[in-house]
Amino acid sequence: MEPPRRRTMIWVLCAALVASAASTEAIGVNWGTQTSHPMPPKIVVQMLKDNGIQKVKLFDAESSVMSALANTGIEVMVAIPNDQLEQMGTYSNAKAWVHENVTGYRDVNIKYVAVGNEPFLKSYNGTFLKATFPALKNIQKALDEMGSKQIKATVPMNADIYSSPEDNSVPSAGDFRSDIRDLMVEIARFLSSNGSPFVINIYPFLSLYENPNFPADFAFFDGGGRSINDKGTKYTNVFDANFDTLVWALKKAGISSMKIIVGEVGWPTDGSKNADVAGAKRFYDGLMKKMASNTGTPVRPGPMDVYLFAFIDEDMKSIQPGYFERHWGIFTYDGKPKFPMDLSGKGNGKYLAGASGVEYLSDEWCVYDPSARNQEAVPRSMDFACSNGDCTALMGSSPCSKLDRSGRVSYAFNMYFQMKDQDVRACDFQGLAKITSRNASRDGCLFPIQIVNAAGRSPAELGLLMLPWIAVLLFL
Ligand SMILES: *[C@@H]1O[C@H](CO)[C@@H](O)[C@H](O)[C@H]1NC(C)=O
Ligand SMILES: *[C@@H]1O[C@H](CO)[C@@H](O)[C@H](O)[C@H]1NC(C)=O
Ligand SMILES: *[C@@H]1O[C@H](CO)[C@@H](O)[C@H](O)[C@H]1NC(C)=O
Repeated sequence: MEPPRRRTMIWVLCAALVASAASTEAIGVNWGTQTSHPMPPKIVVQMLKDNGIQKVKLFDAESSVMSALANTGIEVMVAIPNDQLEQMGTYSNAKAWVHENVTGYRDVNIKYVAVGNEPFLKSYNGTFLKATFPALKNIQKALDEMGSKQIKATVPMNADIYSSPEDNSVPSAGDFRSDIRDLMVEIARFLSSNGSPFVINIYPFLSLYENPNFPADFAFFDGGGRSINDKGTKYTNVFDANFDTLVWALKKAGISSMKIIVGEVGWPTDGSKNADVAGAKRFYDGLMKKMASNTGTPVRPGPMDVYLFAFIDEDMKSIQPGYFERHWGIFTYDGKPKFPMDLSGKGNGKYLAGASGVEYLSDEWCVYDPSARNQEAVPRSMDFACSNGDCTALMGSSPCSKLDRSGRVSYAFNMYFQMKDQDVRACDFQGLAKITSRNASRDGCLFPIQIVNAAGRSPAELGLLMLPWIAVLLFL
């Protein structure tokens, strides 16, 4: 028999092993705030805690959010929006930013500073090409000088900075886009030599959305569809293929081992054909299982560092890329889980926990009155309501998209009325609308009641995108 002391030592060793296995990369989330009615940051932080989420990625450094994250231990990636990149090219501005938004939050566990967000997207037409690298260098220099050397600056990139696996190429053929190759190589080398991670956003949903011939199963993780054979390495999902395309592009730049973070990955639940709860559930179930297994990708096996996009729906995101933009959340605008989701990926029966303590406006809805005179004003009123509210749920595949004409008009009116904090003046529409206390939800389509506006900013400040919402009516 072994002496007891030795046995104790073995136990200590086992415990240490278990602990180290449990502390492999945890799932992080993106917390965006382009919402008309943000939940109080304290409630959102409690949601992070209740769901065991230890890492959060932000898109700016809003003080109410940063303050709510203080003393929580939650790891934070704070960010500089693209429109401030040029300013950061002047060192004193970069220093001021770091002073206010990093040094100023000593109790926040800031780990990274994201300098810009997907600045090299093709659709930006090169607007941020010149400003990004100088901003990155200045921010890192300021971090180093102000004694925050362990905090790393990086630039979250979109996957269209490199050739994609949809172009019928294999991951090992991966390289940076030719128009930005030299710049990308310089940036990657800077990040690598500084010990900063490369942050990449990967969207299998967009592969499917943008290409009608894309094999749908390849967007998910349960196989069964197309696979890519890359000189003997088999890829059964586009996520892995995409990630390894980057690994190969980095290799060609002479970088073989830098840390790579997936800054955004997710699946929207409404606003387009493949955007629905069933698709999101299938995608996330597969992703979480993959994360739990720590298999990584064929070229980069092992734990992955991943941030889901997104934590909460944002009803004021630009819908230029598509109506689905306002439906990326794993939680609704008011903090309800959209479907049972197991973040552990282990099937332990523990699902997302919703928000508590959310305050709602009164049980009042604004609905269309089909008996009102002035019916010829319906299209114009609908256009107005949709341009200033949110009609994206009418444009997707949810039950709301199947409402009849009067249901659609009511939905649009109600969304505008809620957006305006149930102001009676926001439920007129030239006499076509009336307020009711009877729940207007119908045919499986939820007519929401807004929450009490925590930030107190008006939707107009956020600048809504005017689109010809007349299209919503034409869809009838
Ligand atoms: C700090 O961040 C906030 C929020 O993103 C921003 O408005 C402000 O301009 C930043 N401070 C400086 C000095 O740049
Ligand atoms: C980029 O160019 C296209 C086509 O000229 C234009 O429609 C779009 O508004 C431009 N985008 C930006 C961000 O400048
Ligand atoms: C209205 O009805 C829907 C569908 O039955 C329900 O989900 C929702 O909670 C109700 N809203 C309120 C405020 O009672």
